[in-house]
Amino acid sequence: ARSIGVAVLGMGNVGTEVVRILDESAADLRARVGADLVLRGVAVRDLAKPRKIDAALLTTDPEALVTRDDVDIVVELMGGIDPARALIRKALESGKSVVTANKALLAEYTGELATAAASARADLYFEAAVAGAIPVIRPLTQSLAGDTVERVAGIVNGTTNFILSAMAETGADYADTLAEAGRLGYAEADPTADVEGYDAAAKAAILASIAFHTRVTAADVYREGISAVTADDLVAARKFDCTIKLLAICERVRDAEGAQSVSARVYPALIPLTHPLASVNGAFNAIVVEAQNAGRLMFYGQGAGGAPTASAVLGDLVMAARNKVNGGRGPLESTYASLPISSIDDVPTRY
Ligand code: NAP
Ligand code: HSE
Repeated sequence: ARSIGVAVLGMGNVGTEVVRILDESAADLRARVGADLVLRGVAVRDLAKPRKIDAALLTTDPEALVTRDDVDIVVELMGGIDPARALIRKALESGKSVVTANKALLAEYTGELATAAASARADLYFEAAVAGAIPVIRPLTQSLAGDTVERVAGIVNGTTNFILSAMAETGADYADTLAEAGRLGYAEADPTADVEGYDAAAKAAILASIAFHTRVTAADVYREGISAVTADDLVAARKFDCTIKLLAICERVRDAEGAQSVSARVYPALIPLTHPLASVNGAFNAIVVEAQNAGRLMFYGQGAGGAPTASAVLGDLVMAARNKVNGGRGPLESTYASLPISSIDDVPTRY
């Protein structure tokens, strides 16, 4: 039977679960792809860390792994810009498909990477980069490709939602809850990215780019984190029948003449307890999409953590592998608009 060679870069919270599922679900994956998915190697930094894998598969040389002839698909789960950016480019330029969960990288370099993928007729998939297990990239790029999206808004960071939920429900301590989010595998390697809203801003940039078919980077997104939110703020919010959530809001804006621009912002907002987003707790995420013809859609599920994120990675891996088997290439996000970014002078406290 035909084999599809897979290289995994990174074996942390997400990579460990991807390797586990590849092993445990090998027979099902073979049936779904029409070929064996064969793990050729896994790149890590520290070979001495205990890991559930045949040690012969581990390497500290990701570049050598990416360029192996028997690797067809590269799954990048190491995070950060460098060396992930160069490794992904190298993989794409040599015709290998890439699956990545790296929102920090995509929020800056989707344009560059998508161009490299298109030139090599390779796939670049990133469902896991936004909202963990929740399918939202594929619905926006494919299911809603014939509609006009007006707004994408919601809770897209599991760590901060976990912290705010615990503070609101039990008055839990901010620092203790952040440490717990790290232990549970929700937080980024540097949790400042979560609590200061950088991670949510990266996701907002990706969502705005694909929803509005334009290029938005993290630097275009107005950003406030949750580090200044106190237990007293949450108690005060309750008195107004509200709670506080870190929201990412991306909107198509039209001025009086009909000229369009994009507004993207991340900030802690007061949400009425009756609103569906108010009952999204723990590391769960929820995203509301408003499109001209579809109306309002809501996506809800586990937004962070090894296994939920690995589920999205495996979905992309199966798609990329099917395309390799069938000699085709999946649809990419389409960028044809060039919308200016709206300036944001003030954000409303209440959603
Ligand atoms: P992590 O636990 O910090 O794991 C990172 C892995 O990459 C580790 O195995 C590390 O090796 C390896 N690595 C880092 N730099 C390397 C280098 N230069 N060469 C070789 N290996 C290197 O991270 P994670 O939580 O799994 O997240 C991975 C990616 O998924 C990130 O882009 C993150 O933003 C994204 N993501 C995470 C989640 C989540 O819930 N955790 C959800 C969605 C997306 P060592 O093990 O030797 O240190
Ligand atoms: N650190 C991220 C979060 C991981 O907490 O949402 C999922 O992207």
